[in-house]
Amino acid sequence: MEFPETRLRRLRRSEAMRRLVRETKLSVDDLVAPLFVRPGSKVRKKIPSMPGQYQFSIDEAAKEAAKLFDAGILAVILFGIPPKKDSRGSGAYAADGIVQKAVKRIRKEVPELLVITDVCLCEYTSHGHCGVVKKHGSGFEVDNDATLKLLAKTAVSQARAGAHVVAPSAMMDGQVAAVREVLDDAGFENVAIMAYAAKFASAFYGPFRDAAESPPQFGTRDAYQMDPANLREAIREVEMDEAEGADILMVKPALAYMDLIRLVRDEFDLPLACYNVSGEYAMVKAAAKQGWLDERRTVLEILTGFKRAGADIIITYHAEDVAAWLK
Ligand code: PBG
Repeated sequence: MEFPETRLRRLRRSEAMRRLVRETKLSVDDLVAPLFVRPGSKVRKKIPSMPGQYQFSIDEAAKEAAKLFDAGILAVILFGIPPKKDSRGSGAYAADGIVQKAVKRIRKEVPELLVITDVCLCEYTSHGHCGVVKKHGSGFEVDNDATLKLLAKTAVSQARAGAHVVAPSAMMDGQVAAVREVLDDAGFENVAIMAYAAKFASAFYGPFRDAAESPPQFGTRDAYQMDPANLREAIREVEMDEAEGADILMVKPALAYMDLIRLVRDEFDLPLACYNVSGEYAMVKAAAKQGWLDERRTVLEILTGFKRAGADIIITYHAEDVAAWLK
């Protein structure tokens, strides 16, 4: 009988040996924690479809941010639920908008924490679409260029409030260039852009739309977010965002798009983020609650997979738990 010459199992025999030869290491430095901010004070409202996640009033969001920073997390990304919504999403770019106020407060209370803001209108529009809606035949259309102006205004108002990084997520063509131009004109050359470069029209955003109270009131986002079937088109989106001045690229969602994460890592040199979205979180939480999955092992395996695929940065609702597990 012939034995294999190479014995790979030699390197798996002990925890010390496995650690010594481990190729991919997840670190707390990789994590960005999303926070949902809502009006009021002393509010921590549970998000039922995302167990362990809350909508926070600004005071509570600042406390949560401090807790995350103490756990070793370097950055948060903020989403706002405004006191009222209107057709042009004016709460997104109001100087005293919910996110603008939250940024100021968090910057003051946790000065070393990086604050990233999502630049989109869907949480602020009464119709729930990511831009300005106009009639088109018997249906509707999201007006790309009218929306660019409002996204640019939103980014500047967030930068003015103190955001370190703005993250345009509306999937309008030209949004990165539009945001870069107004930021530079307003003197915010140092504010970085994390571009939701390839954002797919995904079923995995379901719980987020509860969390941000932002489901479209009619129609879908299929005419502006990407078709999940398209990889070559995703690369074109990434190329455009790089050319328009993105500092960090993002792929979203993450779990069903690991092939794209790998491809972007291989073809582009910018830092790459992936967004482990609400539905990916909810699936793990639901199965773990039933006792069907070991939550800690599952989450660490998924997040390590994102890094192995090539992500540098992981936006995840598991951030606080993972920080504790990695300690
Ligand atoms: C849009 C936005 C969405 C998410 C992040 N930014 C929702 C959407 O496009 O419908 C989803 C994040 C998640 O599911 O965790 N502002």
